[in-house]
Amino acid sequence: MKPKAIRGMNDILPEKSATWRYLEQVLQEIVHSYGYEEIRLPILEHTELFRRSIGEVTDIVEKEMYTFEDRNGESLTMRPEATASVVRAGITNGLLHNQRQKLWTSGPMFRYEKPQKGRYRQFHQFNVEALGYAGPDVDAELIIMSARMWRRLGISRLSLELNSLGTPEARKRYRATLVEYFSGVKNQLDQDSIRRLERNPLRILDSKNPELQGIIEAAPVMLDYLDAESVEHFEELRELLDIAGIAYTLNPRLVRGLDYYNRTVFEWVTDALGSQGAVCSGGRYDGLVEKLGGRPTPAVGWAMGIERFVALFEACGGKAPDTGADVYIVAVGEGTLQRAVGLAEQLRDAIAGIRVELNLGGGSFKSQMKRADNSNAGFALILGERELSEGRVGLKPMHTREEQTSIGLDDVASVLSRKLDKAAADAGAEDE
Ligand code: HAM
Repeated sequence: MKPKAIRGMNDILPEKSATWRYLEQVLQEIVHSYGYEEIRLPILEHTELFRRSIGEVTDIVEKEMYTFEDRNGESLTMRPEATASVVRAGITNGLLHNQRQKLWTSGPMFRYEKPQKGRYRQFHQFNVEALGYAGPDVDAELIIMSARMWRRLGISRLSLELNSLGTPEARKRYRATLVEYFSGVKNQLDQDSIRRLERNPLRILDSKNPELQGIIEAAPVMLDYLDAESVEHFEELRELLDIAGIAYTLNPRLVRGLDYYNRTVFEWVTDALGSQGAVCSGGRYDGLVEKLGGRPTPAVGWAMGIERFVALFEACGGKAPDTGADVYIVAVGEGTLQRAVGLAEQLRDAIAGIRVELNLGGGSFKSQMKRADNSNAGFALILGERELSEGRVGLKPMHTREEQTSIGLDDVASVLSRKLDKAAADAGAEDE
């Protein structure tokens, strides 16, 4: 029987990983250009960390965590998200005392969700977190930074949804109003919502049940219950977004599935990927550092779901730059392989970043040329016994009608370097 991968956990094969690598590289470049620095974190944390930060009464903590006891009997969890770990690391390493931090981190996250297109049990996030910043300037900058990513990559079909959850006190007042409202229509609620009514009524607003949409739409709206400071924060954020030319929709029902948020919350959503439309989501979590044992520290951040980001990039016609070989070395006949190994290394030394593929495993001239063709390399270097004895090599352009030429083995690097520069310039001109 063939071995199977775990449901909801995917292999990223070479044809896809080129796109992943390209997009991750662009994300990194952009966040670096805003002054964010990388932090690398463990995949395992104490279960308690996620219970306290994400919240006991959330889908993630109640039913989606990969939790187990280690050999010492300690309860550990494979991180379902990264914000809690970033805050934990900030406290553990004393990064937050009288300091501000702009951090990014990326990697796999784990949630035992029902797998479907765009929703997996192992998925990947690219996170940015700004700690020690009260905003709203930083809230705006984080959103502007994400918008830059879409522009840079030619991604459209995204819209920004925005809401403010106010302070915890304002939320408490709103919660009480919601409980009163939903209790009045309790006989129309489904099982899930009745359960949430007692424990986490705001999450009823998130329900996807079509039969509840009328009741939800008529429910009181958080924005009407905000405290004065949160109103001001939100207005300033909106003004900054307007100035930056970033369009958004106010979505009073955007409550997010994690409990640590206050004030600003947002999601970039698309209609291009089916039901799993949230590509990049985040918000402010001013109370979390203190809750986890640090000094009061305001904070805000977002996370991009890489699987959805890749899918959207492709749906918008995006393609990663070609990562095939530049040159394929064909070596046929006595003594040619030994020289070809040296030639390949010589080229890699001489031309930074060149991708040289040496024919491995021998084969006839015809079969080696076929491999050269399949490699999609721009040039084949052909080394036969005659070339070897003359100290020369054949240079065959694979994608143009140009004739094969013969060049001295000592000149290969300089000739090839010029040709590759020219090919790159031509490709650049074609793109414009
Ligand atoms: P989240 O909304 O739970 O927020 O996840 C962020 C993003 O991760 C989502 O918008 C989605 O693109 C992706 N995602 C979530 N679950 C899955 C899944 N099962 N399969 C595929 N993609 C998924 C957070 O995790 C917060 N920590 C974000 C944040 C950072 N807030 C402040 N800072």
